[in-house]
Amino acid sequence: MADTSGNNPIQSTDLPLHLLHRGKVRDNYDMGNSILMVTTDRVSAFDVVLPGAIPDKGRVLAGLSAFWFEKTRHIIRNHLLLLVKEATQLREFFPPDSTPPACLAGRSLLVRTAQRLPVEWVVRGYLSGSAWAEYSQTGRVGEYDLPSGLKESQELPAPLFTPTTKEDEGHDMPLTQSELNELIGEGMASRLKETSLAVYRFAHELALEQGIIIADTKMEFGLDGDEPILIDELLTPDSSRFWDRAAYQPGKSQPSFDKQPLRDWLVAQGWNKEPPAPQLEADVVSLTAQRYREAYHRLTGQEL
Ligand SMILES: Nc1ncnc2c1ncn2[C@@H]1O[C@H](COP(=O)(O)OP(=O)(O)O)[C@@H](O)[C@H]1O
Ligand SMILES: [Mg+2]
Repeated sequence: MADTSGNNPIQSTDLPLHLLHRGKVRDNYDMGNSILMVTTDRVSAFDVVLPGAIPDKGRVLAGLSAFWFEKTRHIIRNHLLLLVKEATQLREFFPPDSTPPACLAGRSLLVRTAQRLPVEWVVRGYLSGSAWAEYSQTGRVGEYDLPSGLKESQELPAPLFTPTTKEDEGHDMPLTQSELNELIGEGMASRLKETSLAVYRFAHELALEQGIIIADTKMEFGLDGDEPILIDELLTPDSSRFWDRAAYQPGKSQPSFDKQPLRDWLVAQGWNKEPPAPQLEADVVSLTAQRYREAYHRLTGQEL
């Protein structure tokens, strides 16, 4: 454990609980009917986890997920049971001879265990990233024919649903509508497609009023019995592209609201984007932390 005071960045946790999965950013512990998802302050850029951590990033991500789960409850149920505000709330899950460390507060979500559907439900409101690359070569994105002459980062005539597989190893692969139907059944596929679009539209509109463009996002669903619920993280800067509305200029790639200082710094170091990445310097760490806190503040209207 890097720290227990609750202030220093958390690179990794080593709790006396059953570790289910250590992702790029989150350490997930199995609690039987529930999962403790601890969002660390690890950060990745250009698909590489960086040496160094961004203080408060985990609290921003966990807090934002909890915020959006609450806000979208009228659209779809979700897996959130508790955003852990005080580590002592976790006492019952820890062995009697150990104390939940203070650093878990604010960054840990207790969620209902669901049967994961092996799909990444991707919705794009703007033409960016791999969708822009595809469109500029073929005029299409996935199965959609788009009008010609769209610019990079331009808002799409309507949000597109572009699901992919969820692979445990290697890259996620695009799914056609019929492949998706085959995978999870037509009824469930069309229901969750509409739900994904509804969640995106709702969040996009809310964020826009707060000066943030959510350009695209991916979500996950799982089954609680027969009932689909939203799982994983929701509408965070790790699962979505956030842009600053005030600086938005279609016709080129947009700076990421949260990670741009970090990416610019890495590029300026001349790093070749292969691991290991250079050790992050204090200035870039603090600039990046500031961006994450600002995203939280704008979207929720609260200080972290
Ligand atoms: N409520 C849930 N029930 C079961 N699995 C879940 C639930 N929420 C998230 N998951 C799964 O837990 C894992 C979380 O991993 P994560 O920390 O995001 O790492 P990564 O995305 O880097 O693999 C994902 O595989 C996700 O599908
Ligand atoms: Mg993930």
